Amino acid sequence: MLSEADNMLVTRTDSGTPMGEYMRRFWMPALMSSEVLEPDSAPVRIRLMGEDLVAFRDTEGRVGLVDAYCAHRGAPLFFGRNEECGIRCIYHGWKYDVDGNCVDMPNEPPTSRFKTHVQLKSYPTREAGEVVWAYLGPGEPPAELPDLEWLRVPSDHVYIRKYVVESNYLQALEGDHDSSHASFLHSAMDGQIVGERPVGNAEIRRFHMKDKAPKLHVLNTAYGIITGARRNGSEGRYLWRIVSWLKPFYSLIASEPGTPLLLNVRVPRDDETSWFYRVSYQPDRPLTEELRRSYDEDLVMFSELVDGGPQAKENLDNDYLIDREIQKTKTFSGIRSIPAQDRAVSERMAPTKGFPGIGDRSRERLAASDAAIVQIRKDLLRGVRSMDEGVAPPETATPEIYFVRSVAIELGEGVPFDVGAARYISGEIWE
Ligand code: FES
Ligand SMILES: [Fe+2]
Repeated sequence: MLSEADNMLVTRTDSGTPMGEYMRRFWMPALMSSEVLEPDSAPVRIRLMGEDLVAFRDTEGRVGLVDAYCAHRGAPLFFGRNEECGIRCIYHGWKYDVDGNCVDMPNEPPTSRFKTHVQLKSYPTREAGEVVWAYLGPGEPPAELPDLEWLRVPSDHVYIRKYVVESNYLQALEGDHDSSHASFLHSAMDGQIVGERPVGNAEIRRFHMKDKAPKLHVLNTAYGIITGARRNGSEGRYLWRIVSWLKPFYSLIASEPGTPLLLNVRVPRDDETSWFYRVSYQPDRPLTEELRRSYDEDLVMFSELVDGGPQAKENLDNDYLIDREIQKTKTFSGIRSIPAQDRAVSERMAPTKGFPGIGDRSRERLAASDAAIVQIRKDLLRGVRSMDEGVAPPETATPEIYFVRSVAIELGEGVPFDVGAARYISGEIWE
C-alpha cells in the first residue's frame, strides 16, 4: 500500500512531474523504426511522456522527433510535407530539420532573418533493435543506450510488437513481477499454462501451475531488482522463476533454458496510458519460422493488432473479447492472449478518483506474494527523491549493467537462486 501522495508521485510522469523528470534522464523507446520506414515517408503522431510529438525520417535517413505543432501558429505538423531533409508545415510552408531548426520561411521576405530565431522543440534520437530511441531529458543524453541483449542481436533473432495500453506504466509493469498471478490468470483448466509455445520444458510449466503460492526472494542489483519465485519442483528440487526489473521500465521474464528470452518494456505514453513493447529474442540463432508463425497465428503469446497496431483487437472497449464458455470449460480467464489477460486485470484496477488509468494503491492489501512490487515502488520513489537533490540516475552512466538474462530453472534445495542460476543470468550459458 502507498499513501495517496506517494501513489501520485510514483505514477505520474507528464512534463513537470518529478517522476517524469526522473524518467526523462533515460533513453527510451519512442516508436518502431518500421513506423518511419523510408526516407521522406509520411510523418507519424507519437504521444510520449504526456507530450504530443511527430516523428519523420528525413532524406538522409535520420529520424526527427519534434513538437506536433508548428512554431508559427500551431498547425499540426502531422499533415506536413516530409521533403529535402525537413518537415514543411502545409499552412504557410515553414520548414524544420530533425534538430528543430527552422530552415525555411517562404512567406517572409527573402531578406528576413527571422527564421534563425525560430526553433521547434526536438529530441535526440537513435536507432537500435528496430526501435527509434529518444532522449527527452535536459542537457546531453547518456553516451550509450542501455546494453540490453536484444539490441545486440540481428533482426532475424527478434520478434517485437508494440501496443498501446490503457493504464499507467506502473500497474502494467507491476504485473510482470507478480509471479503468483501466472498460476491463475494465465492457467488452463487442465493445470497447464495457456498457450503452449512450440518450445520449452513442459515439466517446468507443470510445476509452475501446480504450486500456486510461490515464495519470492527479492535481491537488489545494480540495475534494479532480481526476483526468484520459488515453487516446489521434482523430488528434492525447487523450480525458480527468475525475473529482473531494470530501471526504469524493463522486465526480463523467466524463460526455460534454450528457449527465447522475453523482455517487456513499459514506456509512459502519458499519466494514464503506456506503450508496451514485447520482445522475444534468441542470443545465438534466428527464431524459427514455426515460432514466428505461432506468435502470428496462435495469438496467445502476442495479442492480435487492429490494422497493424498499436491498438490490440482484445481491448478495454470490448471486454478483451472474454468468452464465458471458454472460461467455464478451458481457461481460467476466458481471454485468449496472455497480454490481453494482463490488460484485463490491470487497465482499470480500482482507479484513483479523477485518474481512471491510475490504480489507487492506498486501498490495496498487499501480501507476501507482492514482495517484488513493494521493492520496485521503493526503488522508484528513492530514485525520484534523489533527483530532488540534483543527482541523475547512476544507471544511465553504466549501460553495461543492462546485459543480463532471466531463466526458469530447477535447482537443488538449499541452493540460492542467484548462485545456482548465475551462469544463465550473466549470459555465460543459455541452453
Ligand atoms: S502554422 Fe505552420 S507555417 Fe504557419
Ligand atoms: Fe501476466
